[in-house]
Amino acid sequence: MIEEIKKVELELKEHLSNLRSKEDLENFRNTFLVKKGKIQQLFDRMRELPKEEKPLIGKLLNELRSFAENEFKELSEKIHHLQKKETKIDLTLPGRVDYIGHRHPIYQTMERMVQIFVDLGFNVAEGPDIEDEYHNFDALNFPPDHPARDMQDTFFIKSEKKLLLRTHTSPVQIRVMHSMKPPIRYIMPGRVYRNEAISARSLAEFHQIEGLYINYNVTFAELKGTMIEFSRRMFGENLRFRFRPSFFPFTEPSAELDISCFLCNGKGCRVCKHTGWLEIAGCGMVHPNVLKAGGIDPEEFTGYAFGLGIERVAMLLTGIDDIRKFYENDLRVLFQF
Ligand code: PHE
Repeated sequence: MIEEIKKVELELKEHLSNLRSKEDLENFRNTFLVKKGKIQQLFDRMRELPKEEKPLIGKLLNELRSFAENEFKELSEKIHHLQKKETKIDLTLPGRVDYIGHRHPIYQTMERMVQIFVDLGFNVAEGPDIEDEYHNFDALNFPPDHPARDMQDTFFIKSEKKLLLRTHTSPVQIRVMHSMKPPIRYIMPGRVYRNEAISARSLAEFHQIEGLYINYNVTFAELKGTMIEFSRRMFGENLRFRFRPSFFPFTEPSAELDISCFLCNGKGCRVCKHTGWLEIAGCGMVHPNVLKAGGIDPEEFTGYAFGLGIERVAMLLTGIDDIRKFYENDLRVLFQF
């Protein structure tokens, strides 16, 4: 009998040393600890023993049983603990990042532009996105048959009421003139809308910053000085400038401002389409008819105005070459700026 107990004890220890998983544990329990297990079988055989042997065998069996039970308890705690840990911490999972919102690159660009003009002495005004034909066209000296009024460019809201989505920020010039007397020195940032085919270069919805300065004896030289100073602060000191003659109904004379490409230093690259120049603004001296529409005497005052496209500037500064990328809300793009 003692031999048999030793045998079971050896077997049991062998089992224990190989015990790794929950399945092994269950196996161990079924082999040794259950009612029909090997230890109980030994206990059952005590009945056949002579009386005097019973105490010793009983003691040995009790020891074996409590040893097996203790080991089982310890190991099962260990294994449960390990498995819990394993499911809790998976070191192969990618880390979690908490995203904090930030300003859209278009608004960041707009804020920089606005700040430069504020530093140059301009105030900031805003007008409504939904305009009427009077502010968007008539008061700005657009002839009644001007092609820009056409349905192709303008989103009309209710033709009978002459409401539309403003096609530029210039109507805010009129609103500012109506609300104060010269000297007027304002920039007017905002969203504008045009019924245009969507492409890498143009969207139906974009942003502009309008500028307006009206005072006694305002000259074209002041317009040039302001545009040059703004460009230097925005794009860099070492720029060259080119004012090309242009046409807008609301300015006379009118010009388009080019700056030398600050990416290739004017040598020619993909961004400036190998011309060495970047077109960045429309501008000119406020047309006398516009001053009149604004309630300002053109004999007494003169002024200049300009309009800058914000997406265009943001594209140049970020290197994003497709304007649609700004509006796809792809965080992989937006979080780079
Ligand atoms: N409103 C013009 C445009 O949308 C830009 C402009 C503004 C030109 C002011 C001259 C003066 O293109």
